Amino acid sequence: MGRMLIQSGIDFNIPFSVLDPDAHAPCSTIAEFSKGKLTDFDTVMKFGSSCDLITIEIENVNTQALKELVKQGKKVYPQPEIIELIQDKRTQKLFYQQNNIPTADFVLVNNADDVRNKESFLPAVNKLGREGYDGRGVQIVRDKKDLSKAFDAPGLLEKLIPFEKEIAIIVARNEKGEVKSFPPVEMVFHPVQNLVEYLFAPARLSNAIASEADLIAKSIIQKLKLVGILAVEMFVTPEGKVLVNEIAPRPHNSGHQTIEANDTSQYEQHLRAILNLPLGDTRMNLPSAMVNLLGEPGYEGFAQYQGMEEIMKLSGVHVHLYGKRVTKPFRKMGHVTIVDQDIDGLRKKADFVKDTLKVIA
Ligand SMILES: Nc1ncnc2c1ncn2[C@@H]1O[C@H](COP(=O)(O)OP(=O)(O)OP(=O)(O)O)[C@@H](O)[C@H]1O
Ligand SMILES: [Mg+2]
Repeated sequence: MGRMLIQSGIDFNIPFSVLDPDAHAPCSTIAEFSKGKLTDFDTVMKFGSSCDLITIEIENVNTQALKELVKQGKKVYPQPEIIELIQDKRTQKLFYQQNNIPTADFVLVNNADDVRNKESFLPAVNKLGREGYDGRGVQIVRDKKDLSKAFDAPGLLEKLIPFEKEIAIIVARNEKGEVKSFPPVEMVFHPVQNLVEYLFAPARLSNAIASEADLIAKSIIQKLKLVGILAVEMFVTPEGKVLVNEIAPRPHNSGHQTIEANDTSQYEQHLRAILNLPLGDTRMNLPSAMVNLLGEPGYEGFAQYQGMEEIMKLSGVHVHLYGKRVTKPFRKMGHVTIVDQDIDGLRKKADFVKDTLKVIA
């Protein structure tokens, strides 16, 4: 994410400094680079003191340090209080509840015993409050025999939603309060890994559902008064209800395709928002599909890419490699965006890309 944000910022001639714990981070060769822990107060303070404007592309950062930097006159967008609220799925859900934002019913839990005592709430999903990502902090608890899988940590139990679709909307707000959203996209998840496997834009939704989802996304960013971009993940139920799943205050997996398919990319939009520039036109120029390039199971080591030539012969196929040196099963190593006027053609090309391009070691 950071790398694509910088890529976009080069066009605005913005000099970037990057803090990342990995010496070989994808950003390390394209910006002034500091290696350090994002969760360490002193490290973030020292790094932030040398910047004019600070932003993030991961929520797990030391927000105490970011708040202190704001006190010292630095601009930090998204605002540290909002990052803090979003860091914990429990405070996120309470925020939806207090602001009448539709979301799945839930109860807070402190440990596995708490979950075991909520048998009458099943079927449900047990989620870790903090530090879950890429589906790793999510456990479906359908019935009594799944109760042994409960997390023994603070989190929540939320009703299992038999959703028809998962969609996402990326919305942006600048300091002046201008708000613009991207058209909704549709996510198709890997059945086992809980990672987005494909994404289609535009989402196939009725106008009524699409505008309902758009209103929800806009009302969240306005209620938060967030400066930057916000990805809003939502479920569409078989009855046509829209429920918010979770939000992320940064460039998001569900917005990669905006680089090729929309007038303004999510990355440029984020920069426009935090620099208080007019927000860009979000209009979609072509339908698109996005395929995440995940490390092939069974391979771990220096990444090699198989099938690149075959897929690059196709028109409308755009490859993005993130420059991660080492591949591991299901690690996000890159993505491919496919643009095509014809939606059926898109699906065929997306399948071909998925079956042909492999990350091995
Ligand atoms: N209440 C629910 N009912 C049904 N499925 C759910 C529910 N909550 C989550 N899921 C499924 O689990 C996936 C991951 O959940 P969630 O987005 O909360 O976790 P995450 O680890 O933060 O995900 P990511 O980092 O991939 O966005 C969802 O995209 C959805 O497919
Ligand atoms: Mg999610």
